[in-house]
Amino acid sequence: MTQYEFICNECFQHYEPDSKTLRCRTCRGTLSIKYKNMEDKSASLPCGPELTMPMPLPSISHYISLGEGKTPTVRMQKISDQLGIEIFAKLEFMNPTGSFKDRGTAMMISAIKLMGISEIVEDSSGNAGASLAAYASRAGIKAHIFAPSSTPSPKLNQIKIYDSILHTVDGTRDETTRAAEEFVKENSLVYASHNLSPYFVEGTKTFGYEMFNDLEPFPDNIVVPVGNGSLFLGIWKSITEQKNRGVIKNIPKLHCIQALNVNPIASQTPWDKSRISTTVAGGIAVGSPPRKLEVLKVIKDSGGYSDSVTEESIMKWQIKLAKHEGVFCELTSAAAFAGLENLVRKKEIGKGERVLVPVTGSGLKEAFPTN
Ligand SMILES: Cc1ncc(COP(=O)(O)O)c(C=O)c1O
Ligand SMILES: [Zn+2]
Repeated sequence: MTQYEFICNECFQHYEPDSKTLRCRTCRGTLSIKYKNMEDKSASLPCGPELTMPMPLPSISHYISLGEGKTPTVRMQKISDQLGIEIFAKLEFMNPTGSFKDRGTAMMISAIKLMGISEIVEDSSGNAGASLAAYASRAGIKAHIFAPSSTPSPKLNQIKIYDSILHTVDGTRDETTRAAEEFVKENSLVYASHNLSPYFVEGTKTFGYEMFNDLEPFPDNIVVPVGNGSLFLGIWKSITEQKNRGVIKNIPKLHCIQALNVNPIASQTPWDKSRISTTVAGGIAVGSPPRKLEVLKVIKDSGGYSDSVTEESIMKWQIKLAKHEGVFCELTSAAAFAGLENLVRKKEIGKGERVLVPVTGSGLKEAFPTN
């Protein structure tokens, strides 16, 4: 008997956890983890001096870690002054493979290892693939990583150095997902999709738990770049868990930022496949995010806003952050700051409010023209 079960986010059907169940067998809805006993201390992860986080592993000894998390939170003084708000950045590129994905991967690979699985398939825009490759090699699991051939070469090289098998796909991010799904079927392998696996979001919750230790008072707003929404949803789950335990009362607004070229969530319309589906923000170039309805619900429940940003504004903010704050991030991460500027201009975020922005990935992984 596990201390948790899978629950469908749409029809609320329950399932006994296993590695092959990634969607509801009745309605195809996405799945989340529901704990039977939230206070079971043996199955919890320490997240700071007093906080522990429920996790879907029998004990800490099953947790496969590379020291992810515990990333610094820094004040962004100059851009705070420019926008008239108080901005804090949590530097997620300081995770072991250079992005926030390590939080989700650590939990997902731990669960997969515990199930005795020795070979997995994943698709990614680069960061999740690199992260999965690293944790899989640590766990002794063979990994096939599918990534678009347009992925920046530093990310592709990173995937390869960890000794996983890289499959590049000449197509969009969504076509890469379809190629991985085909490969899973043809070879009867386990699909360790970070976008569908309920374990991945359980891992990204650590971001939210750390936030309780890092920031006092708590931020009024959190602005997140969203492709599939794994960080966005993990932050929200950590907030609801803390609220249900009575630890916090004020709920921050969660704002979702997407690129104007690929904005199935922010545009709130069914995704038209004939639309442009490339953006410099490759990490959020997801035309059909399976957890779209979950993200929309969180925006509504938290009182947040979703917005889209132009290619020019993403590039402008990448340089601005490096020039003014000494923070060199990925274009995907810069999109959140471009979105923040929009939200201030539209008065969705008021003067003097406190804002936390995850800097989700490292500029060092970007393939830059050298001029
Ligand atoms: C640097 C970076 N930021 C943000 C995201 C978006 O994460 P998610 O798809 O879980 O919303 C990604 C995803 O690849 C990423 O690589
Ligand atoms: Zn269902």
